[in-house]
Amino acid sequence: MAGRSKSSDRWLREHFRDPYVKRARSEGWRSRAVFKLEEIDRAEKLLKPGLLCLDLGAAPGGWSQYARSRVGSRGRVVASDILPMEALAGVEFVQGDFREEEVFRRVLALLPGGRVDVLLSDMAPEMSGVDVTDQARSMHLSELALEMAGRVLKPGGDALIKVFQGRGFEDLVKAARGEFGRVKLVKPPASRSRSAEMYLLAMKFRLV
Ligand SMILES: C[S@@+](CC[C@H](N)C(=O)[O-])C[C@H]1O[C@@H](n2cnc3c(N)ncnc32)[C@H](O)[C@@H]1O
Repeated sequence: MAGRSKSSDRWLREHFRDPYVKRARSEGWRSRAVFKLEEIDRAEKLLKPGLLCLDLGAAPGGWSQYARSRVGSRGRVVASDILPMEALAGVEFVQGDFREEEVFRRVLALLPGGRVDVLLSDMAPEMSGVDVTDQARSMHLSELALEMAGRVLKPGGDALIKVFQGRGFEDLVKAARGEFGRVKLVKPPASRSRSAEMYLLAMKFRLV
């Protein structure tokens, strides 16, 4: 196809061969990303029946589907994304750009007492291919997610935030260490080894 770059050709080839993509399709998950959350959740026991979970950067909905299945009918999942997301049973959705305060307020309005047990963020900008720009945009979204965690988590609550290594990374981890009892960085097997993506897992939020 005219205009398609070598790297996007490679991405497409890898995507269709990827066992996680095949598994997601056969098991009815909306994204391969679901396996990253599942792997982390199995090891860390983040999501439990009855919890209230906020999922940022939720589209197309793999993480929300998984969170919903874990928190069950006694729990709740509120999700948000800049893109539209096809409705999911039991998931309340707010569409908007999370960099805008107005979107934050609409999300907050759906949270009873303004508090959640678990905050998930898989937010990542559309990649331009210019590493410095992409990393800076990603870092901004990770910082907003951590800021949101500080505003909405219940004491003892947990956050899982996608973060790209690079400028600002150390400061973000340090900020999380100041607010949470336990912080670690995880790279689940389903996360492509070539990608600089990692997940900041911050547990036991200390409300100050
Ligand atoms: C890797 S995808 C999330 C996949 C999702 N966890 C799943 O399992 O289906 C990253 C998401 O971040 C969203 N995103 C990027 N910038 C955003 C912003 N400024 N506000 C809200 N969402 C944003 C994108 O639209 C995209 O859907």
